[in-house]
Amino acid sequence: MAAEATRDTLRQIAESLRSYLETLKDSGVGSLPGHAVAEQLVLVRPLPEQAAPVALAPEPMMKKAEAVAMPTQTQDMFVASQLQSVNTLEALRAGIGDCRRCKLCQGRTNIVFGVGSPQAEVMFVGEGPGHDEDLKGEPFVGRAGQLLTDIITKGMKMTREEIYIANVVKCRPPENRNPEPDEVAACQPFLLKQIDIIKPRVLVALGTYAAQTLLQVKTPISRLRGVWYSYHGVKLMPTFHPAYLLRNPNDKRLVWLDIQAVLREMGRL
Ligand code: URA
Repeated sequence: MAAEATRDTLRQIAESLRSYLETLKDSGVGSLPGHAVAEQLVLVRPLPEQAAPVALAPEPMMKKAEAVAMPTQTQDMFVASQLQSVNTLEALRAGIGDCRRCKLCQGRTNIVFGVGSPQAEVMFVGEGPGHDEDLKGEPFVGRAGQLLTDIITKGMKMTREEIYIANVVKCRPPENRNPEPDEVAACQPFLLKQIDIIKPRVLVALGTYAAQTLLQVKTPISRLRGVWYSYHGVKLMPTFHPAYLLRNPNDKRLVWLDIQAVLREMGRL
């Protein structure tokens, strides 16, 4: 009896915590001390459907030491007050405007908003635009982009127009360095809104940076990949970045296993 009452109480606390975190996220709060850890405990559990042949042991609880600092909350007025009522990609793009919300604006040629179908069932998320993407204003159009296109067309038997492709940040970091926490923080509400509008069944995080940033862990991509996670309620599969595959073609077979898990999830395999 006592044990059952304790279980009920714990369940209620977990439910309240989950609902509190969701409310904070919905209202645009990007960080709280310990939020990352709490979210891992409450929301991000590896799901049972793993790519069987190579699925690595799930990490049931991300270790506290692996959680990275959350980006700070943006104070921007459009983000704070208007984003909630935005419900199309066009309106979101218009609201972003000629963005000056972070220092990446200084070196960019074009904002790389994202491309693809607003009804996409699968959404790929990379790190940030490179040189070619910055010039063209479109994600994944360089050599790595060509490989991603091959994965989509030859592997998934889909077109780039059927899926959606975006990045953690929408402007090219100088010298292709990793985006910094304040830059991620400034851009994060827009990526979240894109996900909210598109409502994909599956997210695919491409590479170390995207996977670690979205999941807020420091676990290497070699250990993250092949396992399902949840990102704001959407199933997320981390996999290797196409640029990494250009240097390590032997690992294409692992990406193929991850993509097969994605296809299975979408009922396409
Ligand atoms: N690498 C990325 O992560 N994103 C792009 O858009 C291009 C290369």
